[in-house]
Amino acid sequence: MYKNSTNQLLKPVTAKINDKGNLEIGGCDTVELVEKYGSPLYVMDESTLRSVCRDYKAAFADYPKVNMMYASKALCTEAVSAILASEGFGFDVVSAGEIYTVYKAGVDMSKVLFNGNNKSFDELTLAIELGVGRISVDNFLELSLLNEIAKSRGKIVDILLRITPGIECHTHEYIQTGHLDSKFGFDLTQIDDAVELILTEYTNLKLHGLHAHIGSQIFETKVYHDEIEILVRELKRLDDKFGLKLDEINIGGGLGVKYTEKDVPPSTFEIASVILNSLNKSIDKYKIDSPALFLEPGRSIVSTAGVTLYTIGSSKQVPNGKKYVAVDGGMADNARPSMYQAEYSAIIANKPNAQCVTNVTIAGRFCESGDVLIRNISLPDIEEGDVLCVFNTGAYNYSMASNYNRVQKSAMVLVNNSQSDIIINRETLDDIISHDVIPDRLKGAC
Ligand code: LLP
Repeated sequence: MYKNSTNQLLKPVTAKINDKGNLEIGGCDTVELVEKYGSPLYVMDESTLRSVCRDYKAAFADYPKVNMMYASKALCTEAVSAILASEGFGFDVVSAGEIYTVYKAGVDMSKVLFNGNNKSFDELTLAIELGVGRISVDNFLELSLLNEIAKSRGKIVDILLRITPGIECHTHEYIQTGHLDSKFGFDLTQIDDAVELILTEYTNLKLHGLHAHIGSQIFETKVYHDEIEILVRELKRLDDKFGLKLDEINIGGGLGVKYTEKDVPPSTFEIASVILNSLNKSIDKYKIDSPALFLEPGRSIVSTAGVTLYTIGSSKQVPNGKKYVAVDGGMADNARPSMYQAEYSAIIANKPNAQCVTNVTIAGRFCESGDVLIRNISLPDIEEGDVLCVFNTGAYNYSMASNYNRVQKSAMVLVNNSQSDIIINRETLDDIISHDVIPDRLKGAC
């Protein structure tokens, strides 16, 4: 049996019911948080964040050359970056915006890896100027572009090659990435051409290793075994063919989390055991020196630490028997239910102990029939003004938020030891129009 880990929890580690009978997280009463900061409100629990990081570090402690890189796309803010950096994590970033965020947070840029399947000239230039540690090159155009930029600055840029290992994992089709017809990376038949170019023409690039990522919200462990076997086999093959000693493999992220009671994600300790066993076996089999191992989990780092608090508004019984309960947020602060049919769990934060007596559908406030946050959830009697707490919203909620319907993006608070601090301000109406421009010829037209 493996030790349990934080990613297997539905709620933050500090979630409890307080003396007032309300849900409390990080020592803060969630109802009071809504009174103070308004809703919808993203809440991040610092203890849970740190607990996840410590699980990962403990789980991989047996392999000295392990490097944890947090995939910022799951949630990229300066405060979250600062916390993860303080836990010793590096960062996988995918845009100028993410590069800039971690840079401004004070992250050691040599511990940053820049990923992406269509990085622009400007983004690559910024990455080089800010001293990003590795760039994972996705395609032939990028190889040549990056070499040009490096050459024009008289620099040698450290790279990995992103490869598509041809592994199918069982998750939503939109979040699989390692299968053969994926848009990401070089397929196995293109690697040699890429390496040949790096060794002969692109001399401002220094190749350190291979990078792959097979998908997200993964519950099966065997896929990691297969992925590692392929990566190590390729290291060996490239050594045999080109005499090239690559000493890094990056296996991406993907570990799943528990959105509802029926989800049973593997423990970080189980994943680590599969990964390290398979790495050690492959190293023996292919007789190579043990490479540095990079992991870049995103969801499993931040999901459980996050909840979203909504205020309940109107309720509606529709003729087919369904009861809709509407909240003041929805698909613009959490796109996942409408994009991937993702399921979530929730409770009423101001009466978490009340008996569940009604089956309802939680509707969002946005102008789309598909804006439904949770279908068929059993809850206590609900009244207008109640606070709904949706669990496991730390990953891919704020990071995928939009201003659809010109609704302001929600605030985020960090809670810890009964203290709450704003880490993202709620947008104002002036923020909403801050990028609008009225051409002179239209001024005064209405
Ligand atoms: N590394 C690479 C190269 C990736 O593409 C991703 C995620 C990760 C790491 C982190 O994977 P994670 O540990 O978070 O599973 N928006 C979707 C998820 C898209 C994931 C994209 N790539 C969702 O909300 O489910």
